[in-house]
Amino acid sequence: MWILDGRTATCVGPGSEGRCCNVFFEDGKPFDLSILVLDDEYPLVIKTSPNFPEFGSCFKRERGNGGETAPDPCTSHLLSILWQVPYKLPVSLSVGSCVIIKGTPVDSSVNEPQLQVDFYTEMNEESEIAFHLRVHLGRRVVMNSREFGIWMLEENLHYVPFEDGKPFDLRIYVCRNEYEVKVNGEYIYAFVHRIPPSYVKMIQVCRDVSLDSVLVSNGWR
Ligand code: GAL
Repeated sequence: MWILDGRTATCVGPGSEGRCCNVFFEDGKPFDLSILVLDDEYPLVIKTSPNFPEFGSCFKRERGNGGETAPDPCTSHLLSILWQVPYKLPVSLSVGSCVIIKGTPVDSSVNEPQLQVDFYTEMNEESEIAFHLRVHLGRRVVMNSREFGIWMLEENLHYVPFEDGKPFDLRIYVCRNEYEVKVNGEYIYAFVHRIPPSYVKMIQVCRDVSLDSVLVSNGWR
């Protein structure tokens, strides 16, 4: 059972509960809600805005609870559409939020593959960027901010714990003074805030990755 209260969607079932945040329902505005049935989870997809048409989050379903529906053969195709890059997610961040990006770098046939994550202060790509993370796979990680349209002081890291074709779990924790970046559970960098995280309105993930999910958890502490 899913319970939606305007800001959060909560999945409730005997012995299991999942929650996703940033569900931007607005009074009087139309929405489109779909629940996919997968082998062992129910991804929830909510479309509330034509510019940001999708929000998805997966929760494990308790086996044997609710029937064993056969997986839909179109599901993986649907999910690949759902998480297409460039992927945009409207967000509201505060200390204690964590942005969780899961995916896989595309195979190395792409010349110098990259992964890019930007925290924009408006819903458009011309706005300021509070945090820019650009991973040049196998080479370096560049972090920066863009203020008044100008790239500021670049911070470089030459440790790149992403591997071609191997899934990654990238987490950006919003701490009081910095964004703490972890890859596959390993701390890699702290980027001190230049623009308050509360100004961030949209996250975009792009370049040479296939995404499994992008979500914001507001309760890691
Ligand atoms: C530039 C690049 C931008 C951004 C910036 C970071 O050279 O074109 O996309 O990565 O560096 O400092």
